[in-house]
Amino acid sequence: MKNLLLLAAFLITPLAHAGGGVEVPQEKWSFQGLQGKWDKDEIYRGYTVATQVCLACHSFKYINHRSLMRVGFTEAEVQTLAKALNMDINAKLISALDEASAKETYGKIPPDLSMMNKARAGGADYSHAVLVGYSEDPELIKHYLPEGVPQGAHFNKYFPGHAIAMPNPLSGPDMVTYHDGTSATVDQMSRDVSTFMQWTAEPERFERQHLGVYVLIYLFIFTILAFLTKRAIWKDIKKH
Ligand code: HEC
Repeated sequence: MKNLLLLAAFLITPLAHAGGGVEVPQEKWSFQGLQGKWDKDEIYRGYTVATQVCLACHSFKYINHRSLMRVGFTEAEVQTLAKALNMDINAKLISALDEASAKETYGKIPPDLSMMNKARAGGADYSHAVLVGYSEDPELIKHYLPEGVPQGAHFNKYFPGHAIAMPNPLSGPDMVTYHDGTSATVDQMSRDVSTFMQWTAEPERFERQHLGVYVLIYLFIFTILAFLTKRAIWKDIKKH
């Protein structure tokens, strides 16, 4: 039984937590747990933040607009969204910012975000923490960076080393207007884009999870059969 539980935990629990440096707070996500799913409206809101804010610097090279049909968008809907960005629905989401100008302006090349939530321990918890981890509070900054914030960098509580080259991308509310009227607070935008990044990193998540459940059912039936077989065999042996 213990093995079954371990297997279940292995198949179902998301990535381990713990970020680099300060431990990142654990949030509740709609894609977690047995009831977890990709929520179309949430992915849509995350897409809105990703394309209207993040895409200015970051690419999402492992997805295109057509991928959105896997979470319930119709072809007409993705056509409209892609058209608004002047993109083909089969084109990768590539930022217009080229690497050379990025390096010159920010000193670092903004990494591709499609696999980011898999590349960092903590996944969506980490992305969310970094996005809301900026602060101007001198006391807080002094606590983490007694020497001050390096030239060109920005204080961030959760980024390893606490000095990040990315200027606060979600510096205030209402940077986007949501399709469903949800209020675009900083926390909301951060949560939505982190959910979107989780989806881009593992679009197959629930196919895998469902497979896990079938494996458990199979093992359960197999255990009962093994038990019944053993009993039948022993019954014969005891008779003699
Ligand atoms: C103005 C350009 C710019 C915008 C806009 C921007 N970023 Fe960044 N981002 C950067 C740069 C530059 C880095 C590299 C930071 C570093 O390594 O110090 C970065 C790094 C990151 C990282 C990686 C942190 C790590 O652990 O390496 C994440 C996650 C991230 N950005 C998410 C986002 C999200 C989500 C958005 C949209 C809400 C966004 N960024 C918008 C420039 C930008």
